[in-house]
Amino acid sequence: MNFAKRVQQLPPYLFVQISQKIAEKRAKGEEVISFGIGDPDIPTPPHVVERLRQAALKSANHRYPESDGLPEFKRAAADWFQKRFGIALNADKEVVSLIGAKEGIGHAALCFIDPGDVALVPDPGYPVYSIGTMFAGGTSHWLPLREENGWLVDLDAIPSDVARSAKVLWLNYPNNPTGAVADLRYMEKAVAFGKRYNIPVLHDAAYSEVTFDGYKAPSIMQVPGAKDVAIEFHSLSKMYNMTGWRLGFAVGNPDMINALFRVKSNLDSGVPQAIQEMGIEALSGPQDAVANNCRIYQRRRDKLAPVLREIGLRFEMPRASLYLWARVPEGYTSAGFAATILDQKGIVVTPGNGFGPNGEGYVRLSMTTADENVDKAVQKLKGWKVPPPPAKE
Ligand SMILES: Cc1ncc(COP(=O)(O)O)c(C=O)c1O
Repeated sequence: MNFAKRVQQLPPYLFVQISQKIAEKRAKGEEVISFGIGDPDIPTPPHVVERLRQAALKSANHRYPESDGLPEFKRAAADWFQKRFGIALNADKEVVSLIGAKEGIGHAALCFIDPGDVALVPDPGYPVYSIGTMFAGGTSHWLPLREENGWLVDLDAIPSDVARSAKVLWLNYPNNPTGAVADLRYMEKAVAFGKRYNIPVLHDAAYSEVTFDGYKAPSIMQVPGAKDVAIEFHSLSKMYNMTGWRLGFAVGNPDMINALFRVKSNLDSGVPQAIQEMGIEALSGPQDAVANNCRIYQRRRDKLAPVLREIGLRFEMPRASLYLWARVPEGYTSAGFAATILDQKGIVVTPGNGFGPNGEGYVRLSMTTADENVDKAVQKLKGWKVPPPPAKE
């Protein structure tokens, strides 16, 4: 059978390979502790699940949803945004509901990229920015994230001819996979860059509510004039442990939001209304779960960090996101170290090169592993002498 080039060009989904390795080990009866995928182990808050139970009984929710979102959900998102960031949004024109931020990110590429166009994409980064670009027929111009720049895209280093021809700039802070954060001044630079080159700025803020040590992440929408060039993606997945329900929203420039809605309405029929009702409950109800999650991830981070340093990993303590992004011991590749720690200690980490070429030499650990497993991992790693890397590494 002949498949389209876009299917042939797809790299294997990162976590499929990792899941296979885990399954093989478990089939042999070996214990495996996974710090792989960033999928919260903590359940959705009970009041949010209860709202779904009630919403499921309403026949209005058995029908097609409105593609751009239930007006009440968009209102709840706008109200939350106002409370959290102090920015007013027109719920009708500046908000669209999404089947998770991932869906919106993938479809956004279809709004801005024509065949042959270039997207500015961080490397390492969440793979959907470049995959969406490829699906739309475009190519990614990689923007290297480097440790010495605090993992921020160096906007000044983008050659002006590339900037002039690019059709979109992707940014993501708090960042996956590096855990880096960007302050409002950086967001101002990004907005100015978008305006100078007339490029839409697409900011993925999926981790804005997963923050530690008192840090609060800004929104690009707090930059005056951001609505002229930017939209921002938000997700209820990590905020309220709702990855399984698939719910997010995008906010910002009304024309960009409308384009996303028009693409979506031709490809999907929106978020099931009962799920949007969960979102209304989550966004407008008690927010204790958000702070509680942050406390849990921070505790796990603090438990793991010392032993990771002891075995020779090097990293900055993340102030946000679910991730610890660590440099592997000298001489190892990302994949080589991930394989060694899995074989010898039954611990799964994600090789950094899966997030782009500049992720080589790093691994990512997600704090979404139950506390007792974090404790077990700490015990397993204590005193571990990482073997010298294989000669061919
Ligand atoms: C940077 C980033 N953006 C977006 C998403 C997708 O979020 P959602 O579950 O809302 O689709 C993820 C999920 O891991 C992510 O890491």
